[in-house]
Amino acid sequence: MTNEDAAEHFTILARDSHTRARTGVLHTRRGDVRTPAFMPVGTQAAVKSVTPDEVRSTGSEIILANTYHLMLRPGLEIIQAAGGLHTFMAWPHPILTDSGGFQVYSLAGLREITERGVRFRSHIDGSLHELTPESAIALQLGFGSDIIMPLDDVVGYGSELTRQREAAERTHRWLLRALEYFRTMVDTAEPSRPWVFGITQGGFDLDLRRRSCDFVAGLPVDGCAIGGLSVGEPKPVMLAFLEEVAPLLPEDKPRYLMGVGSPEDLWLAVAAGVDLFDCVHPTRVARHGGLYTPEGRVDITSSRFRSHFAPVDETCDCLTCTQFTAAYLHHLFRARELLAYRLATIHNLRFIQREMERIRQSIAEGRFVIELEEFRARYRPADQ
Ligand code: GUN
Ligand code: ZN
Repeated sequence: MTNEDAAEHFTILARDSHTRARTGVLHTRRGDVRTPAFMPVGTQAAVKSVTPDEVRSTGSEIILANTYHLMLRPGLEIIQAAGGLHTFMAWPHPILTDSGGFQVYSLAGLREITERGVRFRSHIDGSLHELTPESAIALQLGFGSDIIMPLDDVVGYGSELTRQREAAERTHRWLLRALEYFRTMVDTAEPSRPWVFGITQGGFDLDLRRRSCDFVAGLPVDGCAIGGLSVGEPKPVMLAFLEEVAPLLPEDKPRYLMGVGSPEDLWLAVAAGVDLFDCVHPTRVARHGGLYTPEGRVDITSSRFRSHFAPVDETCDCLTCTQFTAAYLHHLFRARELLAYRLATIHNLRFIQREMERIRQSIAEGRFVIELEEFRARYRPADQ
């Protein structure tokens, strides 16, 4: 956890000469992750409706799980008794865990944020719980997470400037406490130690954003995350802030944009210099019948697919597209057959991972802008 280490655990293989895009490798203790990388979301130690083998078959090399959900159910004790999160869920590859800050912000009705931490009621049974910067680290160490996120204070779009400032400054103080605690628990010279990232906040004020990036950039973190985006703001606002903020993060450390995105967001965020993403979008829209194709997202429940006896995406090599027709998927969704959710999820994850492969390869071959333009010319984003 020194600044010098950063160069060793993250290798940048190539940079695009026209944008800030770069491609590289994260050398985690559980294997390499090629970047830019997309992490499917497995909130409750499962990527909804699919097995770890199926997730892997889409080309995913790392997944995300949530401290908030796992601390409430099944709880740290069970996960530790199972031998850690990787063994428990039968995913032996890298796992990044989010701290719970964002879930408390977005899920919990009753919550109280103090300097000490955040107190909240469980969305499951209403019981009272607390997360502090220290306990969030302790839980993630207990899960056996490979990349640990510190507890942060997140504000939505449209919050008062004073609240945005308070949240950013509190996030900074909490980060110092998190790193201090991490140092007491982990031998930072140990090559197989987990990593801890810093999270930048700052709402929608550029000055706050700059200060947050400066603050986190000055600390011995293993990577830098951009938090507090995609919290209800219009898409152009999100992209404008991203363009400003990403270049302020250290060049030699992985940059992680939290909670983004859709196919079009991924391309643009990579161009802004982002290396790592997570988002429920591909898996969530899949379960509602929204399937990605090179032309954009289609609604498989639409009657136009009733007798479409061809793959939903002719160009796709996924388990779904190589075995089943769009008409069959349409039928499964109409009949609410459980297989629908699984097949749709596999396709959307594979679609995203093929885009990531195309992104990585085009950066390596100096064709990123050409591919980006091709994507933009062809893919019609869904109305948000
Ligand atoms: N997921 C999406 N956005 C955020 C954020 O700002 N903070 C955390 N901890 N997780 C997120
Ligand atoms: Zn497919």
